[in-house]
Amino acid sequence: MAKFNRYLITAALPYANGPVHIGHLAGCYLPADIYVRYLRAKKADVKFVCGTDEHGVPITIKAMKEGVSPQDVVDKYHKIIGDSFAAMGISFDIFARTSDPVHHKTSQDFFLKMYNDGLFEEKESEQYFDPEKEMFLADRYIVGTCPNCGNDKAYGDQCERCGRTLSPDELINPHSALSNAPLVKKKTKHWYMPLQNYEPWLKEYIIDGHKEWKNNVYGQCKSWLDSGLQSRAMTRDSNWGIKVPLPDAEGKVLYVWFDAPIGYISATKQLTENWADYWCKDDTKLVHFIGKDNIVFHCIIFPAMLKAHGDFVVPDNVPANEFLNIEGEKVSTSRNWAVWVNDYIQDFPDQQDVLRYVLCATAPETKDNDFTWKDFQDRNNSELVAVFGNFVNRAMVLMHKLCGGKVPALHPEFMNDGDKDILKEFGLAKEKIENSIETYRFREALSEVIEFARKGNQYLQKNEPWILASVLEKLKAGEQHPKYPQYEEKDIAFLQARIDICLHISLQMTANLAIFSHPFLPFTAKRICHMLKVVDRMLEWDNAGSDKLLSVGYTLRPPELLFKQVENEQVTAQIEKLHAGLKQAMDAAAANAPAVEEAPVAPPKPEIQYDDFAKLDLRVGTILQAEKVAKADKLLKLLVDIGTEQRTVVSGIAMHFNPEDIVGKQVTLVANLAPRKMRGIESQGMILMAEDNGKLIFVNPAEAVKPGSGVS
Ligand code: 2FM
Ligand code: ZN
Repeated sequence: MAKFNRYLITAALPYANGPVHIGHLAGCYLPADIYVRYLRAKKADVKFVCGTDEHGVPITIKAMKEGVSPQDVVDKYHKIIGDSFAAMGISFDIFARTSDPVHHKTSQDFFLKMYNDGLFEEKESEQYFDPEKEMFLADRYIVGTCPNCGNDKAYGDQCERCGRTLSPDELINPHSALSNAPLVKKKTKHWYMPLQNYEPWLKEYIIDGHKEWKNNVYGQCKSWLDSGLQSRAMTRDSNWGIKVPLPDAEGKVLYVWFDAPIGYISATKQLTENWADYWCKDDTKLVHFIGKDNIVFHCIIFPAMLKAHGDFVVPDNVPANEFLNIEGEKVSTSRNWAVWVNDYIQDFPDQQDVLRYVLCATAPETKDNDFTWKDFQDRNNSELVAVFGNFVNRAMVLMHKLCGGKVPALHPEFMNDGDKDILKEFGLAKEKIENSIETYRFREALSEVIEFARKGNQYLQKNEPWILASVLEKLKAGEQHPKYPQYEEKDIAFLQARIDICLHISLQMTANLAIFSHPFLPFTAKRICHMLKVVDRMLEWDNAGSDKLLSVGYTLRPPELLFKQVENEQVTAQIEKLHAGLKQAMDAAAANAPAVEEAPVAPPKPEIQYDDFAKLDLRVGTILQAEKVAKADKLLKLLVDIGTEQRTVVSGIAMHFNPEDIVGKQVTLVANLAPRKMRGIESQGMILMAEDNGKLIFVNPAEAVKPGSGVS
């Protein structure tokens, strides 16, 4: 880390259109916070910036859904999101907002500099336009029928039923989600950044220059660069966003992915007047913490913008995480399948570190991972309570009981190899934890912290100071301990020394645990400092690994439990809450869904005479066999028993029935229709079907009848 003299750490600006869930925390805010707390403990010059992303389509959609203005939406969620982060101990130096005037000006200046340097292409293209609302529509505002699954409420960018990514041109019957009006295409002008011009530089910067980036990040960048970049519009037609600072740009705003990352710069500007040191000096290490859906924007587009502008450093690393699923299913905010951070804080007050612990221990660092409430309980009960909390509590309780509430002496003359070995672990643990944090392997670092506590428990168990104390008590009373007759009066000093050594080392381990755990579990680390009666300065990383953090004879406070059990009822309640939330969202969606449009009933056909009808030979038959017709999506070949014979019938019902489901069903057959060849198969009759809004139903007698029974 030597070549850098200062750090600028950013965490993705969340859209201010809803509260944050634990997937957000695990994805980037928690790893960023761990990294920053570690850097601060190392006394590095570091700034940690974040804020809310308050422009773009997600905000306007939310406003539309809630029937309020976009400004109302962002004001509400900026506060909710900021409060959740603060409660969880995410220690931003600033939590800004992109609606701030400083941000607007910074983004416009950035755009203008690129414009004046001739770095944009000005192009006209045809875009969908809503003639009723008189506005161009973003893809999300366009709805139509999905060509893949037939969902008639698919969006212009994606079908939420089958998951397919779409473009508005692929939709059948595209219309406006705002007015329902059919769309027209209209010419509009935008400013494009020719990303292809930056390809050689990007290849050098990432492919050659940052082979150390995480595989998931490097791989995605390589595949983007291998498939070739194209010009990308950096402006949009909208009335919500940062106005394009050009005279002929009425109704145009900056593309949200142009302005949002500039939010990191404008947040730094609001934080410190020395902001330029962090953005313009080469010895700054810029690191963006993000989720995997943001990789292309932070690794390709934003670096290209920074390079194009010319005044700024580019990211040294972008340690993106994958996604965290919940109880085996993808998080979905629209289905309310999520654990909301503000709910967690209410349900588990003062247990922020438990969530921080579990999310870090199961973080999706290399692949998507699953959060389950059972695992939350197991990790809390068997790692935090049984290992970490248990060790600290035993050390503190025993010290109060056996050493008069003071840090006992070390007595080097009575130290054995076991003591020396455990002291070596102090430095080894420090080294492993810092190596893992510096290479963004936070799960590994956290497991080293727990491992250190586990070793503490083993050390106490091996030395059993409580047994030594009971032997000592007997000896002082002039008796021998029946179980340990090997100890005699002459051993009193030795036994007292062994107790002291064991607890002295255990307390120094406890102090180290506070330092090691602080980036991950800041609330716990502070509680340990309180018990040890030391100031927060002890948490500086320089102190890590030292076995001289607590002075001999220093009085310590009484112990308090660091963690408590998570009970089965709490797990059950949380799982029920998840399912209740899902049901509520689905019920609300069903209640709000527009009624299915009924297909009109067909008008009557012209009149016929009875003789015309009597010509028809209608018979009930039973389907004996059914199979698909090769290369014909819609056709099924049926073998139908009509009593006197078996008929082959080709019927256009393959999209409505599985062949195996209709064998044995009774149908009504027009038995005297002239045979007709379909796909080379002679069809010897026609089956009658009723049609209800596109759904086909066999016409058959209310009760089973003999095959061949006539219908008249
Ligand atoms: O995906 C998102 O939630 C975006 N609002 C992230 C923006 S990160 C940065 F560019 F500001
Ligand atoms: Zn679909």
